[in-house]
Amino acid sequence: MATLAKQPELEVLFDREQIAARVEDLGGEISRDLAGESVLLVGILKGAAIFLSDLSRSITADATFDFLGASSYGTGSRSSRTLRITKYLDMPVEDRNVILVEDILDTGTTVVFLRRLIEQHAPRSIRIAAFLDKPARRLEKVEADYVGFRIPNYFVVGYGMDYGERFRNLPDIHILPPTHPE
Ligand code: IMP
Ligand code: MG
Repeated sequence: MATLAKQPELEVLFDREQIAARVEDLGGEISRDLAGESVLLVGILKGAAIFLSDLSRSITADATFDFLGASSYGTGSRSSRTLRITKYLDMPVEDRNVILVEDILDTGTTVVFLRRLIEQHAPRSIRIAAFLDKPARRLEKVEADYVGFRIPNYFVVGYGMDYGERFRNLPDIHILPPTHPE
């Protein structure tokens, strides 16, 4: 199959320049809010890896990284809100300023589950940064503290986000049409 980026029907929702500019804004906002304190960035695998790498370089504060992985059990109904941890924290979070970094906040299930897990280890503060926010599908009462762009109920790929594990490496964010062929 030709690369997704070359398929004319795959609309670009945000191009790399728009993404870079917004990430810079978020990094500035976070740096100001931290007021010189250090931060532990916790990326949610795998989608947030690219956003985390860009965001971390736009933050002036002293930053360390960690990652958490989670997946839903089985092929699961959407009511199953308990997730299986596929990668646990390596760094202690006690008394740290933690930012949970997510590619896209959708139903909120993942972020709420992982935030609860981090909260059990007494962080000094915990905030959520999501590059995209799709509030239309929210099932949990949760909002991100830092949002790149709020979008309608589109399925998007690129900039870390996948469809069947593909397209994460596309530099722009594209809308995947509902009829996308396998
Ligand atoms: P939530 O637990 O429903 O908030 O789901 C969050 C996860 O679902 C994200 O980290 C993504 O991996 C995935 N996801 C949700 N919407 C999209 C999308 O439009 N494209 C790609 N992945 C998505
Ligand atoms: Mg995913």
